[in-house]
Formats: sequence, C-alpha cells, structure tokens
Amino acid sequence: MRVWMKSPDESAREIGYGILGARLKDDPARSLFPDDVVTALAVASEDSDAEPFIEEQRFTQGVSPERAREFRLGRLCARHALGGLGLLPKAIPVGRDGSPRWPAGSLGSISHSHGLCGAAICRAGRYRGIGFDIASDLPLDAAIARAICAPAEVAWLGERTESERGYLAKILFSAKESVWKALSRDLIRPADLQQFEISLGLPDRTFRVRRLAGLKPSREARERIRGRFVHMPPWILTGVLVEPSAARRGSRASRPANP
Ligand SMILES: CC(C)(COP(=O)(O)OP(=O)(O)OC[C@H]1O[C@@H](n2cnc3c(N)ncnc32)[C@H](O)[C@@H]1OP(=O)(O)O)[C@@H](O)C(=O)NCCC(=O)NCCS
Repeated sequence: MRVWMKSPDESAREIGYGILGARLKDDPARSLFPDDVVTALAVASEDSDAEPFIEEQRFTQGVSPERAREFRLGRLCARHALGGLGLLPKAIPVGRDGSPRWPAGSLGSISHSHGLCGAAICRAGRYRGIGFDIASDLPLDAAIARAICAPAEVAWLGERTESERGYLAKILFSAKESVWKALSRDLIRPADLQQFEISLGLPDRTFRVRRLAGLKPSREARERIRGRFVHMPPWILTGVLVEPSAARRGSRASRPANP
C-alpha cells in the first residue's frame, strides 16, 4: 500500500503502513484544498492491514472483503489526517445517513474509488462543510450527465468537443458528489443536485458552485461554495469547501464582540 499525506508544515512524516514521505510532493490531493485542510490518500493492496477501531467494527461485518478494505483504508487515511491537524486518532463511526461521525473538533470527508481511498479533514468551525470525492476518469454516460446536470451545465457541455464531453461531465459528476457530501447535513436530496450549478474553470482546475432559484439557502445559510479538481489517471479527484458568504462574515465582524 502507498500512502501520501499533506500536513500543514509539509514535513515528511512517518505514519506507518509504508508511508513514503518522499512522495509528499506527488500527493495529488494537495492542490484541492488550502493549507488548513489536511488530506491523506492510500492505494489499496491485498496486504492492507489497517484495523478498524472497536466502535467501527460492526460496520465491516457482513460486507464484502473489498468494501471492508475500503472502509478500513478510508478510516486509516482520516486518522492520519486528524493527526496532521494535531488531533487524536479517534474512532469514526457511521451516522444514520451513512456519513462519517467526526470526532469533536473536526470535520471531514472520505472517498474511495477503484483502489484509491482518501480523506480530507479540517478543524470544526473553520468551514460550514467540506466534501471530497474520488471518481474513475472514464467518461460519464450522456444520459446520466443529462439527469444530474443543471440546464447551464448541459449547454456548456454541448459546446465542448465530442471527445472531451464525457470527461468534463465526469468532473461535474464528481464535483456534485463533493457538494452532496459537504451539504448533506442541510438535508439536500440527490434530486437537488440539479439545482447546484457548477462553473468549471479549466485552466486553473477550479470550480464555483451556485444554488439556483429553486434551492435558495436560508438567510442563516448564505454561503460561498468553491472547489478544485485534479486529474491523476485513472482517477479524478474533487474537493469542495462551504464558507459563509462575505456579507455574512462582514456582518459578524461588525457586530460588537461583547455587547
Ligand atoms: C453517499 C455518496 C455521496 C457516496 O458517494 P460514492 O461516490 O458512491 O462513494 P465515495 O467512496 O466517494 O464516498 C463514500 C463515502 O461517503 C461518505 N458518505 C456517505 N454518506 C454521506 C453523507 N450523507 N454525507 C457525507 N458523506 C457521506 C462516507 O464516508 C462513505 O465512505 P464510508 O462508508 O467508507 O465511510 C453517494 O452514494 C450518494 O448517495 N450520493 C447522492 C447524490 C447523488 O445522487 N449523486 C449522484 C449524482 S452526482
């Protein structure tokens, strides 16, 4: 198994399981997030021996060996990332909706696809939401693209060449999965993903996410959602951060600290 990790101080660190500190520069997830988010990635192999914590063991019972392995590796990555933030490597059980229940003081996201597992973690309170997704870079089926994309995204894809359309649609797909993970606490439904319009910035591998009129956030939830993507064949990785909007940050800042 190979593990990459980005730590805030970017120092090579021994984190066990064959971590290759020299590969830090190759961490494909490092460009997805700012420095206050720590990422860890692992490529699974048959000898992956990460053990779940006792509180997590029931989630690997009765599932396929592949599913148990990706669950364990996701947790392993998450604990490495927690350590990178200076937090203790605690158990990460599964919530009723399938989302990870993060240890106090942390917030994060886990993904796995075709043998690659990873996690992105930040300190609680830093962002309203964080989403991380790994997808294969195989082109997305056109019918699926139509089902998940907002009208402006469909139109934008229509202007691309035939050869790049499926690949770009796959980036949109992964970006929406990241949005879903970052916002699922707000009780958005899978169908709502059509109400999130994503504008890809291809040169700098960024994207902006906008809620459409049908899905306005509440006044309290005004936000800025931004993301990044990276292509590491055969995978596409996306990361999303949800922040309070500038106006909201400003109104907070202008409030007297101790009225
Ligand atoms: C839950 C979901 C996001 C998982 O995505 P996936 O690509 O199948 O799988 P990934 O490996 O990327 O992610 C799985 C991880 O997501 C996390 N997750 C699951 N449900 C979650 C939720 N409600 N909120 C946040 N994270 C969640 C878990 O950590 C899970 O890994 P684990 O079970 O090992 O802990 C996806 O199955 C889903 O239901 N999406 C709904 C939106 C949708 O319809 N998307 C398709 C069109 S864009």
